Amino acid sequence: MKKRILAAREVFQEVLDFLAPHFEVQANQEDRVLTADELALALADKEGALTTLTEKIDETLLSRCPRLKAVCNIAVGYNNIDLSACNARGVMATNTPGVLDDTTADFAWALILAAARRLNEAEAYVRQGLWDKWKLKQFLGLDVHHAVLGIVGLGRIGRAVARRAAGFEMEVFYYDVRRAAPEIEAACRASYVSKEELFRRADIVTIHVPYSRETHHTVGAREIALMKKAAILIHAARGGVLDDAALVEALRAGAIAGAGLDVFEGEPAIHPGLKELPNVVLSPHIASSSESTRFKMAMMAAENLVAALTSGNPPNLLNADVKER
Ligand code: DGY
Repeated sequence: MKKRILAAREVFQEVLDFLAPHFEVQANQEDRVLTADELALALADKEGALTTLTEKIDETLLSRCPRLKAVCNIAVGYNNIDLSACNARGVMATNTPGVLDDTTADFAWALILAAARRLNEAEAYVRQGLWDKWKLKQFLGLDVHHAVLGIVGLGRIGRAVARRAAGFEMEVFYYDVRRAAPEIEAACRASYVSKEELFRRADIVTIHVPYSRETHHTVGAREIALMKKAAILIHAARGGVLDDAALVEALRAGAIAGAGLDVFEGEPAIHPGLKELPNVVLSPHIASSSESTRFKMAMMAAENLVAALTSGNPPNLLNADVKER
């Protein structure tokens, strides 16, 4: 008999076609985010799940899903999954590292350029029919070329962002809890500085840190207060790494010039102050959302699921010390 799995959110048809020969698949193709109770009920008789950041996999859920052996997240981030609970329950958890680095870095640059050059404000102005003449001092922005870029977190995505800075002939600084190897620093042309120095010196700060209890509010009022008045802050990592309320306060006070945000604390709800601020570029957590990358992410998660439930050895296992059940 085939094992049963749930695709908890909509996936590409090709992904379902790939899974079909291996499993009996229940798919949520109408893409409604299931409540915790609906998810537990749907997973009660399943061996595996394809999940996304909208599905919370914790002890409460796992205690109701006795057959579950693998949870394969369609995301590189996995703060929706409690790995200790998975370990204790013998559930393998996987993510999708690597395939989204360049696409996410491209999007960080889209936010950098849009926020620095005030593209959203200018676009709204044109759409509202307010443009009546050319003006010398219209939407004066921040130059990106030759500016100082500060990268918080030099992991795979941070490095991809750094490499792109060479084309803008920027000076690049980074801060990370671990200093990168000399060859990585050389490839990124990035110099290691303290967190304080980074915030003080950068014209553009961009955050690329995964979310965890340890990284909660890595960037808050203290760090933002160090920034230059003309500087901008970009965040395309995970909600909660940045203290959104502190950012709103700083922007309201004119302490920094603007921001570009793709992720939010408590998303899809966003801090109400953000929507009122014209100098913030907002997008709905789409940094990895190119057709090709989202397809690769979903297929990679499906491959993890097949490997997990056939060999017990998925390529992107997050909890290597998971106990056999
Ligand atoms: C990830 O992969 O973690 C993103 O946040 C979802 O696209």
